[in-house]
Amino acid sequence: MAQQNIYDNDAFFKNFSGQRAEEINFNDVIETPIITAMLPDLTGKRILDIGCGMGQHAKQYAEMGAASVLGIDLSEKMLSFAKENNSSEKITYRRLAFENLEEIRDRFDVITSSLAFDYVQDFAGLMKKIYGLLEDDGRFVYSMSHPISTAYDGVYDRYTRTESGERLYANLHNYSVEGRRVIKWVVDAYELYHRKVSTLINDMAGAGFIIEECQESHLPEEIIRKYPDKFGGLWHQPDFIFFRCSKRQ
Ligand SMILES: C[S@@+](CC[C@H](N)C(=O)[O-])C[C@H]1O[C@@H](n2cnc3c(N)ncnc32)[C@H](O)[C@@H]1O
Repeated sequence: MAQQNIYDNDAFFKNFSGQRAEEINFNDVIETPIITAMLPDLTGKRILDIGCGMGQHAKQYAEMGAASVLGIDLSEKMLSFAKENNSSEKITYRRLAFENLEEIRDRFDVITSSLAFDYVQDFAGLMKKIYGLLEDDGRFVYSMSHPISTAYDGVYDRYTRTESGERLYANLHNYSVEGRRVIKWVVDAYELYHRKVSTLINDMAGAGFIIEECQESHLPEEIIRKYPDKFGGLWHQPDFIFFRCSKRQ
């Protein structure tokens, strides 16, 4: 699979945008607070947000004082939602796949990405392209599904459960086998790439990045207790992993 534009599939887009609009959703409750805390001061900065989706982060970064935000995404449906609902004179949305980043001629002070790199086939190549687009004193901050969470085959339950259905253990399926995984999720064939934590680290380092910070998603206990069906499994495993990188000088 070179590119999977699953967010332009009607059923998938409806499901994703519906979940994103819920008051308690994975992005707003888990992802956004962690990535926001890892960002440098955005005042006056030029930002590139890769896989910007419906533009919530682009709008957030503009409101945090960025001079400009370029949001790129493959999905026309996501971009059209972004333009309608999360626009600002500081933000430009552009349809561009992250496989074609070399088409961007500008350089950026901060490059971000939220939960889009699960779909990257050539992670090492992407890290090199991002390195080339970042100013020497810039920062690259991103989140993606945690490799523990993508070590899943979609066939068996993610959890070993008690007889009453309580999640007892998170199951890993072939953690060490990297590459494309096709699972049933909203659509019959949802495709993503699983890779090990060591591969992420080595590909960033190989591109020239210094890892300044790494975080794994965690939730306040009261949220897990309040929404056990939605977040109960997160006692056992982190859903997302986060990195902040600078350039080796
Ligand atoms: C889980 S959504 C995240 C959207 C947004 N960053 C957010 O946090 O809400 C993943 C996004 O990655 C985009 N995407 C997937 N493959 C892509 C590709 N090859 N190039 C650019 N964007 C891609 C999808 O269209 C989708 O908008």
